[in-house]
Amino acid sequence: MAFDDNMAKDSNNGESLRRLLEYTAAYEMSTGSPMLAYVHSFGCQQNVSDGEKLMGKLAKAGFGFTDEPEKARLIILNTCAVRENAEDRVYGILGRYKKLKENDPQLVIGVCGCMAQQQCAADRIKNSFRYVDLVFGTFVTDRIYDMLWKVISGRLDNRKERVFDLSDSDTTIHEDLVQMRRDKVKAFVPIMYGCNNFCTYCIVPYVRGRERSRTPEAVIEEVKGLVASGYKEITLLGQNVNSYSYGFAGLLRKINEIDGDFWVRFMSSHPKDAGRELIDTIIDCDKICTHLHLPVQAGSDRILKAMNRRYTVNDYMKIVDYARGRDKEFSFTTDIIVGFPGESYEEFCMTKELIRKVRYDNIYSFVYSKRTGTKAAEFEDNIPDSEKGQWLRELLLEQRETSQEWLSRYVGKTLRVLADGAGKTDGTLTGKSYENIIVNFSGGEQDVGRFVDVKITCARNWALEGEIVK
Ligand code: SAH
Ligand code: SF4
Ligand code: F3S
Repeated sequence: MAFDDNMAKDSNNGESLRRLLEYTAAYEMSTGSPMLAYVHSFGCQQNVSDGEKLMGKLAKAGFGFTDEPEKARLIILNTCAVRENAEDRVYGILGRYKKLKENDPQLVIGVCGCMAQQQCAADRIKNSFRYVDLVFGTFVTDRIYDMLWKVISGRLDNRKERVFDLSDSDTTIHEDLVQMRRDKVKAFVPIMYGCNNFCTYCIVPYVRGRERSRTPEAVIEEVKGLVASGYKEITLLGQNVNSYSYGFAGLLRKINEIDGDFWVRFMSSHPKDAGRELIDTIIDCDKICTHLHLPVQAGSDRILKAMNRRYTVNDYMKIVDYARGRDKEFSFTTDIIVGFPGESYEEFCMTKELIRKVRYDNIYSFVYSKRTGTKAAEFEDNIPDSEKGQWLRELLLEQRETSQEWLSRYVGKTLRVLADGAGKTDGTLTGKSYENIIVNFSGGEQDVGRFVDVKITCARNWALEGEIVK
């Protein structure tokens, strides 16, 4: 077996992995096809990356994968808890799986990720979704073989075993986790886990624990491997990459020295920690894309303070102005929350004013969602939902008006674009430019996964259009 080396590393899991392998192999022998797993990740790229690691582990235990839950013998929902609607969606999906379980009692259903890390969610699943076999949080993915084998071996002995593991004591970064990446061109590389910032609205620090960084050696080795196997875009991930323990600018410079034709992106940057050094580094390093995802959240200093963001609008604008004053074209994108407890309409209008001033190429905006356990959950939430929805629409309208005009600065220029895949109409492709702008252009299959030069002919609301230059 090709797994022997790694099995030794999975010390506590070794026996369970062996058993699982026997189990999946026996299934494959008798049915002629591999035992299929369906893994669905919700939420941010960090979670998607965790999902890929989980799939790598499952592949090592002999599972194949399907995109159709109906065909799976193992279903795992890798969940997000950042807003209430993210959780509601998971409960909705779990409700629909009841039928699947009735049809196939051997089916194993698991829930993991940020939502599963919360005791209240785990309790609700325990009591109201009794057909869910397995619930585990964000710290214990490396124990998947033990947890899964416990459930399956219980079945084989006619015992109903349910496993719940929310422990958060093991904060070791497991570098040996094999990863199953679906995309062959773009890869996510986490450089750190957790968050120390405790923005008052945010659940992430509670479900992901304190910050811990991978070593630069581990990150660089992974990036080198990806580049060698043909990856063209590497996105470094962290809730706040600027607090990477070993120095983020230094890491970028080292990655930039790796040979090969590839781009590097990263997210997110916390405005309180993103400064001139970061901008200077991006400008010096050709492989680092000139784009900053710099979540501002709100345009009023009072609300920023209540959110515990630890910067002012003025501090924020200093970074933007510094980047915009340089001789490379920078693109900014952001996250915005509307309707934070106590926010007045006047304060909300300051956010609109800010997006006009910054001229973002794209914004991700959310209605505030109360998260139990966070500081802001104790604040009085006095704004009716209907009003928050109205504010969100106003904000998007504002952005649409600003962005089309702002994107037109690219018309007539030639941008380097990484072609992602087929566009909306026949004979077109879509991709993202070095600056992170979506570009639609005419092109064929042969260009997918390649860098192409595109001359921009037209600016739309969120995207550019152009022609490949030969
Ligand atoms: N670490 C990243 C953000 C991770 S969460 C950062 O600090 O930029 C992604 C986005 O979700 C946040 O930027 C915020 O805009 C939004 N968000 C987080 N908690 C939220 C809540 N309780 N309600 C609404 N939006 C929220
Ligand atoms: Fe949440 Fe703030 Fe941490 Fe981002 S920096 S994950 S918004 S607490
Ligand atoms: Fe990401 Fe959602 Fe967790 S945004 S860190 S998956 S709460």
